[in-house]
Amino acid sequence: MPLTVLPPAAEADAILGRQAARESAARTYARALPIVPVRARGMTVEGADGRRYLDCLSGAGTLALGHNHPVVLQAVREVLDSGAPLHILDLATPLKDEFTTELFASLPEEFARDARIQFCGPAGTDAVEAALKLVRTATGRSGLLAFTGAYHGMTAGALAAGGDVDARAGLAGTVQQPVRLPYPFDYRCPFGVGGPQGARIAARWTASLLDDPKGGVEPPAGMILEAVQGEGGVIPAPDEWLREMRRITSAHGIPLIVDEVQTGVGRTGAFWAVQHSGIVPDVLVVSKAVGGSLPLAAIVYRGELDVWAPGAHAGTFRGNQLAMAAGTATLRFVREERLAERAALVGERMLARLRALRCLLPAMGDVRGRGLMLGVELVDPQADADPLGARPAAPALAAAVREEALRRGLIIELGGRHNSVLRLLPPLTITDEQVDAVLDRLGEAVHAASALPAALPAARSGLQR
Ligand SMILES: Cc1ncc(COP(=O)(O)O)c(C=O)c1O
Repeated sequence: MPLTVLPPAAEADAILGRQAARESAARTYARALPIVPVRARGMTVEGADGRRYLDCLSGAGTLALGHNHPVVLQAVREVLDSGAPLHILDLATPLKDEFTTELFASLPEEFARDARIQFCGPAGTDAVEAALKLVRTATGRSGLLAFTGAYHGMTAGALAAGGDVDARAGLAGTVQQPVRLPYPFDYRCPFGVGGPQGARIAARWTASLLDDPKGGVEPPAGMILEAVQGEGGVIPAPDEWLREMRRITSAHGIPLIVDEVQTGVGRTGAFWAVQHSGIVPDVLVVSKAVGGSLPLAAIVYRGELDVWAPGAHAGTFRGNQLAMAAGTATLRFVREERLAERAALVGERMLARLRALRCLLPAMGDVRGRGLMLGVELVDPQADADPLGARPAAPALAAAVREEALRRGLIIELGGRHNSVLRLLPPLTITDEQVDAVLDRLGEAVHAASALPAALPAARSGLQR
């Protein structure tokens, strides 16, 4: 049979066709981003068709240093050339020792001094499950306090802790539901007041629920929260609110789990997002960037909680040596190059420019974020605003913007309520020129999509808020 060599674009289409035919209906990013990456470096991804894209998704926030950073590649090559075992369960190795030392050095000193680490299965959701099990074991209690808008992963316990009702449809009864508490959200304040006052009321509701002997809440095993909600729509919690959550949980003897799977390793402008508020959690959940683009997850927690029995939490893939080497290189590079500070600076500049853009493009209802975790909530500009000035979410427009951005060589994803928030998670190494290119392309994409007849009426007739 003669070999048919397809032109690159046709070959890419053929691969996408086979993917659509063979992969699960649950696939996600692949649906919205029909590209076939073959090469990637820094922030640039090249498709099989030869097209190049600026990647503002960064493996859902995983790639703190972008794709294939030289320090990561060198660390991986050194392990491969050294003859070190690649898989070794949870045995001690020099690579793990080095990783743990570097990770602990990045933590608030008060926390690191007495911390323990449990390596988990390789995904963030595995570490969330471990955190939940740890606090349940340590307290002998089972309930959980979790927040509106939260996302903690897709395994049963993590899914229950999350706020997305659709994501667990059909799984009713498989896990214990947490007590759901309000997360402060300035733009769509659940109390209709917004600003610091909205956050104060949210904290007060939590305090009163726990203080009230007839509040209906059994003493829980823990509280789990994100310092900046990512999947929930890029919603940074005010530092004061976080300090209140720490105060309330301490006063009630409730372990506080902070899920820094997405916010960690410089992303929000501090090495760990808890450092903005100065709180010290009881359990820190880490994954994504800590593996330097390879799968790695762990919980770090106060020694006092370390009461579970040998084997109480296990998993075959807890010793990914390549990920530990890549992770050490990443953590070290972020520390030495002060990339968290750079993320804070560049993030502020991007926020300012996005806010300026918002004055020109009324579909950009809200612009928010911290460090290089940025979000633009798209709204229907012709619909009535609520008393706080928020207009209905515009999911169809957001999808159109994502498509227009891709057409212009920019990869972004959507998140938030009704998938109407454009999410920007560039690598911490983004250059000033790349910042300009990202914002230019994004502005053009919003402008072009806003002019599409299909985008806004669909938003008006579709889901609202
Ligand atoms: C805050 C947070 N926790 C947990 C997870 C789950 O991580 P994974 O997808 O690796 O299971 C995510 C994923 O986006 C996340 O953002």
